[in-house]
Amino acid sequence: MRRLTVGTARPYDVVVGTGALAGVGDLLAGHRRVALVAQEAVLDLHGGAVLHDLTGRGLDVVVCDMADGEDAKSFATVEALCRRWADAGLLRGDAVVALGGGVVGDTAGFAAAVYHRGIAVVQCPTTLLAQVDAAIGGKTAVNLPEGKNLVGAFHQPVGVLADTVTLATLPEREFRSGLGEVAKYALMGGADDTFGIGTLLADHGGAVLARDPAVLADLVARCAAVKVDVVTRDPEERSGLRATLNYGHTLAHALETAGLHDLQHGEAVAVGLVFAGALAGALERIDPARAELHRTLVDGLGLPTRVDGLGADELLAVMRRDKKAHGGLTFVLDGPDGLTAVDDPPPAALAVAFAAVGVDV
Ligand SMILES: NC(=O)c1ccc[n+]([C@@H]2O[C@H](COP(=O)([O-])OP(=O)(O)OC[C@H]3O[C@@H](n4cnc5c(N)ncnc54)[C@H](O)[C@@H]3O)[C@@H](O)[C@H]2O)c1
Repeated sequence: MRRLTVGTARPYDVVVGTGALAGVGDLLAGHRRVALVAQEAVLDLHGGAVLHDLTGRGLDVVVCDMADGEDAKSFATVEALCRRWADAGLLRGDAVVALGGGVVGDTAGFAAAVYHRGIAVVQCPTTLLAQVDAAIGGKTAVNLPEGKNLVGAFHQPVGVLADTVTLATLPEREFRSGLGEVAKYALMGGADDTFGIGTLLADHGGAVLARDPAVLADLVARCAAVKVDVVTRDPEERSGLRATLNYGHTLAHALETAGLHDLQHGEAVAVGLVFAGALAGALERIDPARAELHRTLVDGLGLPTRVDGLGADELLAVMRRDKKAHGGLTFVLDGPDGLTAVDDPPPAALAVAFAAVGVDV
């Protein structure tokens, strides 16, 4: 089991490994009542152990199931959860356990942030994406019809329990999608592979795809450590450092917004990473071999490297409208000093990068 400490104002641990969920009772010792929020399928698969541990410690558990999918990440769900908690008598000193992927973590986390002006939440991520990313860092949000994640709050959990055993039941496409973020962390390590994630993928790629428990635990712990480090140094996205976590995401968000392709988030990130590598290569910030590594790494994980049938003009227009773009175009790109933000790259370099992912220029 790996224990990583997030050094926010009130520090908390991210525990990664086989059986991490069994620590939930310890973490909530001293509390009286707990709301366990999960989607039905995940509750059936992985809720038993959590429930057993909590009730075994004499905690009064209120099980709250919520619907699946992005549509459930809504004010309506937050209201339903808060009303259920009020009905069950949850008070300021009680706690929430969010068991599931990023949809549950974001929604239950946001409800916990606003219920009684903030009650404790334990994040128990059960998707690869949530274990390496969404559950760590305290960002919570719900969607509006006008856009994703438009209403939210920073609400750091009291702990994150990433039990890699839960990944065994994840549908294949969800697992692959999580690998898109894993590829991002691998490439964030730069040419000298600072975090050892690139080497792990090169040496044990087959075991990762086969979800070997020991290899997965190591992989998740290494990726989570990168996020923990960034969140510790920039807890509320003030210094710009946290923007490095958006590596590959500028194009990815545009692909998701353009909505012409049925791409999962991690698949869009995968294409975005290939694009970012090609753009950095065209700008001569990295050598051609490193740019090509972006493509081979993504390809080796069984993720898409291109999207055909889209036009660059359309994607550029979407990227300029992005809430983080401030009207111009900013990309996080690899370079001699690691990842840095690059504003408004020249059209010729953009054309090379678009061509590298199959987008018409
Ligand atoms: N807060 C953050 O910092 C942050 C970061 C990245 C993404 N997100 C958010 O995360 C969300 C996406 O999260 P996601 O990719 O985890 O998707 P998800 O939460 O929708 O989960 C995907 C599917 O897998 C199922 N599932 C979850 N765990 C399972 C398991 N162990 N076995 C079987 N099925 C399981 C879920 O029920 C769901 O159907 C988005 O809403 C995104 O905005 C948040």
